[in-house]
Amino acid sequence: MNINGNTSLYGVIGNPVGHSLSPVMHNAALAALGINGAYVPLNVVNVGDALIGLKALGFRGVSITIPHKETILEFLDVVDPVAERIGAVNTLLLKNNPDDGATPVVHGFNTDWLGARMALEEHISLAGRTVLVAGAGGAAKAVGYGLHEAGAKVLIVNRTEKTGRKLADWLGCGFVSFGELASVQADILVNTTSVGMVPRACDSVIDPDLLPGFKVVMDIVYAPLKTRLLQDAEAAGCVVIDGLAMLLCQGAAQFEIWTGQRPPLDVMRQALESELQVDDAVFDC
Ligand code: ATR
Repeated sequence: MNINGNTSLYGVIGNPVGHSLSPVMHNAALAALGINGAYVPLNVVNVGDALIGLKALGFRGVSITIPHKETILEFLDVVDPVAERIGAVNTLLLKNNPDDGATPVVHGFNTDWLGARMALEEHISLAGRTVLVAGAGGAAKAVGYGLHEAGAKVLIVNRTEKTGRKLADWLGCGFVSFGELASVQADILVNTTSVGMVPRACDSVIDPDLLPGFKVVMDIVYAPLKTRLLQDAEAAGCVVIDGLAMLLCQGAAQFEIWTGQRPPLDVMRQALESELQVDDAVFDC
């Protein structure tokens, strides 16, 4: 990478941000397309202060991750209606104000919902399908929204009933408890909880006996890459989609917003996989 006075600046703000895979994915994409740009991890405590700095330094595109996806909203100049509705922003585009050509205007978007939808649509059409979404946090909200928008019938299952019902009401969909799952019929299962993530890689959010009914099982956990849930689902004959798929697809949508160019998906996926091989714990349950 040849950094010079014309290099466009991109980054991810979060806290912590040291383990983010976004830098490796976006730098690989920028390099593959010959774009003079650099993407850096930025550990940020105060998101309002950080935004003033990003504007002053002339950053062009920024990813927002935990814990800033909701708090960033109040500092933005323009918020995409879908991001506003979801109440979370994971992508910033800084553009010069057309009136004076200088002052940056900050636009906020949410590509998480698109990422979930794109990752699944590579394997199965969503319209009319029943999708069981496990979890009711921020990730479940974006995933549920994306799938609902694609015409799927979403069903939420969550450990805490109150939180699960709140999300189901927001989506206008149904809620079931884990105890009721034996009587549920769905085409697709998406795990949005952290269950199965290292160091508790032997855990799974769902009893393996319940898996043969699903056509497709997607996990958003990517450490390890082949989670216990995906191993069980594969053994049950389901098509499995690993946690890199949604990360990749939401990143691809960001890249397109920032550069206006088609993201090099293969290069980005390859970069993510080689990075994970270094960190990914080998496990055998
Ligand atoms: P995020 O915003 O990243 O989605 P979150 O808001 O902490 O993260 O949400 C985590 C989700 O994982 C929640 O739905 C949580 O269930 P509760 O609402 O019952 O807390 C779910 N979750 C976390 N650990 C879990 C576990 N061991 N078993 C079942 N669900 C779990």
